[in-house]
Amino acid sequence: MTVIDREVKLDIEWLSGSIGAVIRGLDLRDLDDATVAAVRQVWLERKVVFFPDQFLDPDSHLAFAAYFGTATEGHPVIPGIAGYPNIFEIDYTKARELYATYGDVSNRRQGIDWHTDVTFVKRPPLGSILNAKVIPPSGGDTMWSDQGAALRDLSPSLQDYLSTLHAVHDGRDTFKNALKQFGKAKWEGKQFEELEPVTHPVVRTHPETGEKVLFVNPGFTSHIVELDRRESDVLLRFLYEHSVRPEFTVRYHWTAGDVGFWDNRSTQHAVVGDFGKQHWLIQRVTLKGDQPA
Ligand SMILES: [Fe+2]
Repeated sequence: MTVIDREVKLDIEWLSGSIGAVIRGLDLRDLDDATVAAVRQVWLERKVVFFPDQFLDPDSHLAFAAYFGTATEGHPVIPGIAGYPNIFEIDYTKARELYATYGDVSNRRQGIDWHTDVTFVKRPPLGSILNAKVIPPSGGDTMWSDQGAALRDLSPSLQDYLSTLHAVHDGRDTFKNALKQFGKAKWEGKQFEELEPVTHPVVRTHPETGEKVLFVNPGFTSHIVELDRRESDVLLRFLYEHSVRPEFTVRYHWTAGDVGFWDNRSTQHAVVGDFGKQHWLIQRVTLKGDQPA
């Protein structure tokens, strides 16, 4: 256990070399400004933080999110839970069924799908707050990877070159049937019928910390604008493999009642699909982000 002496004393346990921390002893329903500022600092430094034993209901989940930003629609394409459009529920037990219904990724394996959330819009989320509702007794961990550490591990000349590139992020393939099913999508209050591909820099500068981070992910990045397709495919394949090497990652085993809060600007994440048919249900609130630069 590490107790870091800040303006506010937080009980913090680091979970790996560069990423992840557990913060104990807080009730997320009742935080003062100084505690919120201290938590934000730890969150920025560790990129994903966990708060055990919270058991938040939808209102307190949204109230906690409001300490850190403005909630977006739960998901641009998939509707939120009844009465709470800003809460996106994922029942992983039903996920394959769900995807089969959508039809576009029905052959998806449970395996592991690294991605950064919703990078296929102009302003992807700042972060997300996950509320663990039903967790299998074994398996179903989530992993996060530190994209600043991944970038810094590359040779300086490759880092410099990557900083000159831009990549297209495209959610059309993944969500085309969901869009057909739900008829329309909504993000930042604006409705649209099609997902248009967007372009983001391959290396972005974190707007709060100034850290340079890799910003491509196998979930939604389709190609690098400045390269021909073959070159782009090879470079992206290398970056995808490099960016989730074990030394940049943290792996968290959930317990019901846990809250996890990650910075979506500087990480990728993936659920480890080793939980078979056990029940696994979470709710997520996502915070509005800015345009990567
Ligand atoms: Fe995700």
